[in-house]
Amino acid sequence: MEAVECIKTRMSIRKFKPEPVPKNILTEIINTAQRSPSYKNSQPWEVVIVSGKKKEELSELLIRLLEEGKVPQPDIPEAVSWPADIAERINETMKKRGSLLGIDLNSPEIKKKSKAANFRFYGAPHGIFLFHDSSLNEWSIFDAGLFAQSLMLAAHAHGIGTVPQGFLIDYSSEIKQFLGIPESKRLILGISIGYPDAENVINTCMTTRVETGRILRWVE
Ligand SMILES: Cc1cc2nc3c(=O)[nH]c(=O)nc-3n(C[C@H](O)[C@H](O)[C@H](O)COP(=O)(O)O)c2cc1C
Repeated sequence: MEAVECIKTRMSIRKFKPEPVPKNILTEIINTAQRSPSYKNSQPWEVVIVSGKKKEELSELLIRLLEEGKVPQPDIPEAVSWPADIAERINETMKKRGSLLGIDLNSPEIKKKSKAANFRFYGAPHGIFLFHDSSLNEWSIFDAGLFAQSLMLAAHAHGIGTVPQGFLIDYSSEIKQFLGIPESKRLILGISIGYPDAENVINTCMTTRVETGRILRWVE
């Protein structure tokens, strides 16, 4: 797939077919993502892919913590507030997705259900977790973002869907313990990955972007 088309047609997938992605293809996707640039070529990323029975067990653990009302303690804190213009964009996106699904994504009950769906990896056969050493600074989080985008584009080029999920780091300590990752690592992001369920309405919701003129300024 041509690069610009790949970037413009990628979208977050929130319903997957259960069929696993062959290991050699997942490896190829990670290998491609490793070509991402990083600060001083530090390549600070570390990747765990969880599948099968272990993925089911992890979903159960996360849903149990949610049901128990355990307060999330993500390694990267959730934003507490947003500048007004950005808050408006977020609301617009949520409203559009909510109306497509016929639900109010701001209702506490739906929010909880939506979190549980995140914790079930939206039905994907694999969950990817990105880590790095927690002594690393913001540049390495930036690098992880580049890696994540490369990974998602490489997957899309193979006809494989992904969704990046901040919610998947809610219970960072428990996830690290479950996956056998030392507490000294920072859990940065979870990404569900698998073949998209193209029939599902949720996968028809292409998000919009603000007009380029609103974020671009020419100085000449
Ligand atoms: C860092 C990050 C965290 C995200 N967390 C979640 C999440 O927890 N759950 C989810 O369903 N989508 C999550 N998303 C997906 C965004 O909602 C999505 O990228 C955005 O709405 C734009 O839509 P698109 O990916 O289809 O272009 C996250 C995206 C990023 C980059």
